[in-house]
Amino acid sequence: MAAGSASGHAPARIIFLGPPGAGKGTQAARVSARLAIPRVSTGDMLREAVANRTGVGRKAAPLMEKGELVPDDLLIEIVRERLGMADAASGYLLDGFPRTLAQAQALVGMAGGNPSEGHVFLFELPRAEVLQRLSGRRLCPVCQSTYHVDSNPPRIAGRCDRDGAELIQRDDDKEAAVAKRLEEYELRTAPLVAFYRGRPGFHRVDAARTVDAVYRHIVSQLGITE
Ligand code: AP5
Repeated sequence: MAAGSASGHAPARIIFLGPPGAGKGTQAARVSARLAIPRVSTGDMLREAVANRTGVGRKAAPLMEKGELVPDDLLIEIVRERLGMADAASGYLLDGFPRTLAQAQALVGMAGGNPSEGHVFLFELPRAEVLQRLSGRRLCPVCQSTYHVDSNPPRIAGRCDRDGAELIQRDDDKEAAVAKRLEEYELRTAPLVAFYRGRPGFHRVDAARTVDAVYRHIVSQLGITE
């Protein structure tokens, strides 16, 4: 099942599942650019809502800070609205959604959300490596580019390569919130593996490999060139 989009194939509908820090966002940026489809990152959308102090942002902020999931009804509405936009008609890459069974079931009813028709990539990474990645992650607050102090440092320490903004550490990358995020993942998101496993487009990803190796694996599973 080759993924399409601008090429005239069927729309590419892709879901990235996996624990915090597994590299979903890093790969989502590259794969969505390669396929010319929007990357729908619920984490980024919520962080933007928090920064803009919208109604959703005010509800989400205290939960995100503690590492808890934001309620399903809010997320389902945000994603339904986003997938209804014109640019998503040619496909989309969901990064961070669905994260609960209720979200996965709601997605089935959304534009093109039939999970049998798309690709689901499950990123797998040992806990020790997750902790190492999250503690070293740095984020550009302007363009959302992600770096790592050891494995993916910016050209100038502490500054974004794209826009020169000062990089920050996410509040929820601090120790207490990370422990809660991992607990939420095991309890509420890991059960989604059973929901998707066995479908034709379900792929496991060894996320411990380099960024380039993980990318090559994903594009090969999508049946496209790098
Ligand atoms: P969200 O922003 O989605 O966080 P997450 O799923 O915890 O994922 P991360 O962004 O932490 O990690 P990632 O897998 O994208 O890794 P990355 O590529 O950055 O969600 C945040 C919060 O929002 C949630 O806790 C929740 O409160 C709320 N939320 C969001 N969606 C929700 C939903 N659907 N329902 C309810 N609540 C929701 O990489 C990590 C680091 O590793 C980086 O430093 C990177 O440079 C480095 N790295 C990446 N790949 C490699 C590699 N191959 N080798 C070495 N280093 C690497």
